[in-house]
Amino acid sequence: MEFQTEEEKQLFYIDKCREIIKQKENKLGRKLTACVVTFGCQMNFKDSEKLVGILTEMGYEETDDEHADLVLYNTCTVRENANFKIYGRLGYLSKIKEKNPEMIVGLCGCMMQEKHVVDKLNKSYKFIDLIFGTHNLYNFAELMYERLSEDHKVEEILEGTDKIVEDLPTVRKYSFKSGVNIMFGCNNFCSYCIVPYVRGRERSRKPEDIIEEIKRLVDDGVVEIMLLGQNVNSYGKTLDKPISFAELLRQVTKIDGLKRIRFMTSHPKDLSDELIEVMHSSDKICKQFHLPLQSGSDRILKEMNRHYTKDGYLELVEKLRKSVPDIGLSTDIIVGFPGETEEDFQDTLEVIEKSRFDSVFTFIYSKRTGTPAAEMPDQVEESIIKDRFNRLLKVVNQISNEKIDEKLGNIEEVLIEEKNERLDNYVSGRLSNNTVVHVPGDDTLIGTLQKVKLNEAKGFYYMGELVN
Ligand code: 5AD
Ligand code: SF4
Repeated sequence: MEFQTEEEKQLFYIDKCREIIKQKENKLGRKLTACVVTFGCQMNFKDSEKLVGILTEMGYEETDDEHADLVLYNTCTVRENANFKIYGRLGYLSKIKEKNPEMIVGLCGCMMQEKHVVDKLNKSYKFIDLIFGTHNLYNFAELMYERLSEDHKVEEILEGTDKIVEDLPTVRKYSFKSGVNIMFGCNNFCSYCIVPYVRGRERSRKPEDIIEEIKRLVDDGVVEIMLLGQNVNSYGKTLDKPISFAELLRQVTKIDGLKRIRFMTSHPKDLSDELIEVMHSSDKICKQFHLPLQSGSDRILKEMNRHYTKDGYLELVEKLRKSVPDIGLSTDIIVGFPGETEEDFQDTLEVIEKSRFDSVFTFIYSKRTGTPAAEMPDQVEESIIKDRFNRLLKVVNQISNEKIDEKLGNIEEVLIEEKNERLDNYVSGRLSNNTVVHVPGDDTLIGTLQKVKLNEAKGFYYMGELVN
């Protein structure tokens, strides 16, 4: 068969799978179920929406119960804990499969791009039916067809790709908000990070394709989008007609009907004045900025290959706060990078105290095989890391609490996102700065923007009430 596009080819295989699924349905006298479990970041969530979309087109019914006819884990490997989690879950899954040998178990995502992981899976987890990586997710329907029609294990991992295949069936988790990929991969090679090895080199999508996707989403009821990339600030540099991330944002703000724009993740080394200016001048861009610091020590930043200094970072924070006064700032910190001394750690605390982040994601350094940092001497002792980590949390929590109190009593706009799982007759949403707010209300509010009075601050979220 000759196909004009990759999308066309995948739709062909979706049809072929649908026929097989239909036969199985008839035999069993019920629909087949599929459970996709996502680990890791927003990009993996976005990928999973495609996987679910493709499975739904094939005729599977989506479920979140792993007692399903097909279970697919979309994995993350950014820290070793993420890998441990998968091995644990696989143990549990093998018991389920013993009772239902027809069940298909698949694994995909970042962890599959590590050879030692796939070797281990092949040796010790023989019940797995399907393995594929981050570069050939678009191929999923074809791989599924092979598995369904030939009844043997299917494995396909590519070393890399220059393809961008985005136009695949998708089932969005939320009807009113969506992630939008603007770029893939990463060229930064921070010395601790495995992402460039598992997600490949940086590739940007064409601005016109991005705009078209967002327009389609808006026509379909989406009011908030999150532009996704490992380093959105370097968006567009490798395009035939290069454009800056700030310029892309400017174009996105012009889309009628779109109410809120977020983006993730920014690298401080590429944060431009132009971007800060665009944020300042558009009401649609949410007042939220995630700017990973990792460490406040110049020496450690150099070892991490981050290309900025403590003072450079603090300057960026100052510029952002000056230009967008009530911006919600968040960051990532790694504790216990090889060679980190108490003095280095004090530098990190100093930047945190000066920057007054609204929230901080704190990570213990995790040694990732194949990265330069894994080979560095002076890996820090566990007890020292734990002690620093606890001290860090104290400072971070204290500041977050103080920050959240600053808005008490304000009336702010909230996008209501979901029913509150714990409180009856409550719904939950987010402020422009990304803080969560719980308010009394029902399902009819979901997907709408509401004015909310922030009555009570509870550490990391507010309790509020609708005001009209
Ligand atoms: N160990 C600990 N944290 C890490 N991160 C990335 N790699 C590692 C690692 N090896 C953190 C960084 C990054 C976030 C997504 O995960 O803080 O910003
Ligand atoms: Fe995890 Fe990074 Fe892969 Fe996202 S890109 S799933 S954070 S390893």
